[in-house]
Amino acid sequence: MTSRRAFATRTIFTALLLLALIGAGASVWAFSGYVGVAATDKDNALVAWFLHTTYQRSLDRQSAAVAVPDNLVNDVNVRAGAHLYAQHCVYCHGAPGVRLDPIGAGISPRALDLLAAKRHNGPQSTFWVMRHGVKMTAMPAFGKSLDDTQLWQLAAFLRARRGIDAGDYRALTGPVADASGDPSTGRKSPLAD
Ligand code: HEC
Repeated sequence: MTSRRAFATRTIFTALLLLALIGAGASVWAFSGYVGVAATDKDNALVAWFLHTTYQRSLDRQSAAVAVPDNLVNDVNVRAGAHLYAQHCVYCHGAPGVRLDPIGAGISPRALDLLAAKRHNGPQSTFWVMRHGVKMTAMPAFGKSLDDTQLWQLAAFLRARRGIDAGDYRALTGPVADASGDPSTGRKSPLAD
């Protein structure tokens, strides 16, 4: 055997041994019962950085091919999106003038304030995240229960109304007044006929 070949064999053997040791170490760690899984435990800074970077890079890549519908941001979509937000998202993501629900207060990682003025809420990534959800977080995959039209309406609302204040949020998500002028139900009262 030439010395070059011996060197290559030794290197491969060492690498495999190292991999086996790392695997064994990880298994011992997993089986030990000492790894904290409580939502109240703070993530190690390195783990948090690793998970967040993985998430962000994956999201950018996966959502790049999403085609945004023409004329996405219009009054009908924004209003419908606001209602869907109040129905499905506010528990976790909150809204101005709304007290955060115990669900949103208890999850880890906490959901971001999607209506903050500094948000970008690019429609492509917003749509992708809503549709597919985020692994190992409380973010559900809404593609299982809402159709694409509804998801785009949510994306339109989040894009157009970042920085919304409490009064506008209440007005936009409140009951819709109709011809009978009864804003409490949004439906025509039978007595009005
Ligand atoms: C049960 C809690 C929960 C509900 C309900 C929920 N989310 Fe989330 N959402 C999360 C969590 C947790 C994250 C991930 C936060 C992180 O990555 O740190 C998230 C992430 C997101 C993100 C990505 C934000 C970013 O910039 O990374 C978007 C967009 C989003 N949610 C939109 C929605 C919309 C729209 C709804 C309603 C249709 C909704 N979410 C309902 C918990 C929730």
